[in-house]
Amino acid sequence: FDESTARAIQTQIRELPNTWQHVLVLGIGGSSLGARTIYEALAGSKPQMQLHFPDNSDPWALQDLLTSLPPTNTCALVVSKSGGTVETAAQFLVIQEWFDTRLGKADAWHDRVIAITDPEQGSLRKLVNDKTLRAFNIPPNVGGRFSALSPAGMLPASLAGIDVLALLEGAKRMSTLCRRTKVMENPAALYALLHVTQHRLFGRSLHVMMPYADALRAFSSWFVQLWAESLGKRHDTQSRLVEQGPTPIAAVGATDQHAQLQLFVEGPRDKMVTFIRVAQTERDLAIPGQAGDHAYLGKHTLQEVLNAQHTGTALALARDGRPSVSLEIPAMTPQSLGALIFFFEAATAYAGAFYGINPFDQPGVEKAKKITSALLGKPGSDADPDAAHAFAPSAQRMDLA
Ligand code: PA5
Repeated sequence: FDESTARAIQTQIRELPNTWQHVLVLGIGGSSLGARTIYEALAGSKPQMQLHFPDNSDPWALQDLLTSLPPTNTCALVVSKSGGTVETAAQFLVIQEWFDTRLGKADAWHDRVIAITDPEQGSLRKLVNDKTLRAFNIPPNVGGRFSALSPAGMLPASLAGIDVLALLEGAKRMSTLCRRTKVMENPAALYALLHVTQHRLFGRSLHVMMPYADALRAFSSWFVQLWAESLGKRHDTQSRLVEQGPTPIAAVGATDQHAQLQLFVEGPRDKMVTFIRVAQTERDLAIPGQAGDHAYLGKHTLQEVLNAQHTGTALALARDGRPSVSLEIPAMTPQSLGALIFFFEAATAYAGAFYGINPFDQPGVEKAKKITSALLGKPGSDADPDAAHAFAPSAQRMDLA
């Protein structure tokens, strides 16, 4: 927990022009989801700066976003641990030209970009050194999906005005619990053990993340990426073929009670559901009392309704012998979110150990990245012999126009 980096970030932010109001966060996967999770949970309706996460290299979304943003009041963060991810590199090039054209000046982008990448390696680091760009480091031993509490999450969060020192403090407290050597006293190890044994012994291979809070919608997606990319592996740590891993599913309560819950309660008994609820919300809404069928609701607040929905769902599962884990955070604060993020990162590491795989690599993702780069003509990459056929017109293709 690099508090000195957090302070350095805060100092550097104070030196940025105070006319900047928008931040484009260019990154994908772990280099976007951590920051998005923190922003969506904590920024509220009036962030210090508004953050935008194009994430995907879909031209429609980026074009729409760029049309709506004022270039004079916008800056960009380029986040890539490897420094070579095609989606991020392509977006970065588009953004450079957008700044230069819209501001009518060559290299106008230079002072409006901050890079976050590996301290030594990769094309982005090379660019930082060649062009003396502002930059922060993702520590060499921290991979994308474990980088939410590094500058990849801290810088965007600080720009939005979120208290990152409090976020780190929550994570630090949780780390003390997650280092305990007895599994029954270590919440992350216990969570991991429960999931791995339920999977291995009872075939519960689908792991659902269902927070009862809209603010944790992005958190569900972050968890899905963390769990899937870390635990889905072809080989174990002894290089034996295992082709295993749980399939995580993102859900949000109460919305998904009306979409996926029927499947969870009565479908195949192959799921473990994690619920997260918030004990107290800063902003609650009292439901006005009125005579009639819904008079009973007038005694409650919306948060009470949400919490009752969580309890009802967990009980419906339990009555049918279907397991779930319920976590409660006291409030939606930086401390609680820091603790949650660390908890799931540690649980992922423990689950990797219990499954006997390496949770910190992603050879499958690298494989697809290589084929993509070759398709796009990256020098030095071998063209894939099958690529030309993948989308060639064929007799089976249907023209639906
Ligand atoms: O968690 C991971 O390692 C991946 O999801 C990466 O974050 C993602 O592929 C982007 O990689 P990079 O940060 O190197 O641009």
